[in-house]
Amino acid sequence: MTERNDPPPVPETVDFGYQQVARAAKAGKVREVFDSVAPYYDVMNDLMSLGAHRLWKRFTLSQTGLRPGQAALDLAGGTGDLALGLARQVGRSGRVVLADINLAMLKRGRDRLLDAGMAGIDCVQADAERLPFRDACFDCVTIGFGLRNVTDRTAALASMARVLRPGGQLLVLEFSHPVVPAVATVYDAYSFAVLPALGRLIARDSASYRYLAESIRKFPDQAALLEMMRAAGLEGCRYHNLAGGIVALHRGWRY
Ligand SMILES: C[S@@+](CC[C@H](N)C(=O)[O-])C[C@H]1O[C@@H](n2cnc3c(N)ncnc32)[C@H](O)[C@@H]1O
Repeated sequence: MTERNDPPPVPETVDFGYQQVARAAKAGKVREVFDSVAPYYDVMNDLMSLGAHRLWKRFTLSQTGLRPGQAALDLAGGTGDLALGLARQVGRSGRVVLADINLAMLKRGRDRLLDAGMAGIDCVQADAERLPFRDACFDCVTIGFGLRNVTDRTAALASMARVLRPGGQLLVLEFSHPVVPAVATVYDAYSFAVLPALGRLIARDSASYRYLAESIRKFPDQAALLEMMRAAGLEGCRYHNLAGGIVALHRGWRY
């Protein structure tokens, strides 16, 4: 019997796209996806979004409020697009950490940052659910297209809030839910027909891109994610829809 003050039971299964899988199995399945797509990740991003991901990331970077000398974490940072922009904002006197759970993605990110002359960025293999950083050590945390893949998003948001300094900001850039019905119809057709076909053609892997389309549909909508950020203790939470809500940038502050 459940007592009134008991925490709600943790579900034994979670979404992996449209499949229900054992909670303990999801991270391994996500790892297989990114192990498979890592060599094609950047070219596929450009092809799938026709380059728009660069604009979404640029907008995200324009909202960080970072100043030279400050510290920033790009979590689930993959090949390092956001980390590169953060490093330019904080300059040589600042600190940027690129963290990702997946070694294949992290290695590609590290190589790209080195190629761009950014040798000072720390690359750390880490799980968003339990960040290996002390409390209150970053002025800004970004997570771009990463939260959707995390098993326990509540734990991840709490972990991100924990590492933010008072006055620090979390920015969550993620696929969301189109707010214009006409956009939703075209976008549905595009994601379930074109994305897996592009995946098969370029990365020889359609399943990973079907997972992409499905995981986007299963991800909380704009209002639900806002509520999760508030529940993690963040304040002043708000979001900006991009491309009619196909993508949204959620922001929240720790005080
Ligand atoms: C779609 S990629 C996004 C990469 C990059 N942020 C970007 O915007 O291009 C998602 C990344 O999330 C990482 N990821 C998935 N689960 C994670 C977790 N629990 N903790 C940290 N990173 C995770 C994956 O390894 C992958 O590199």
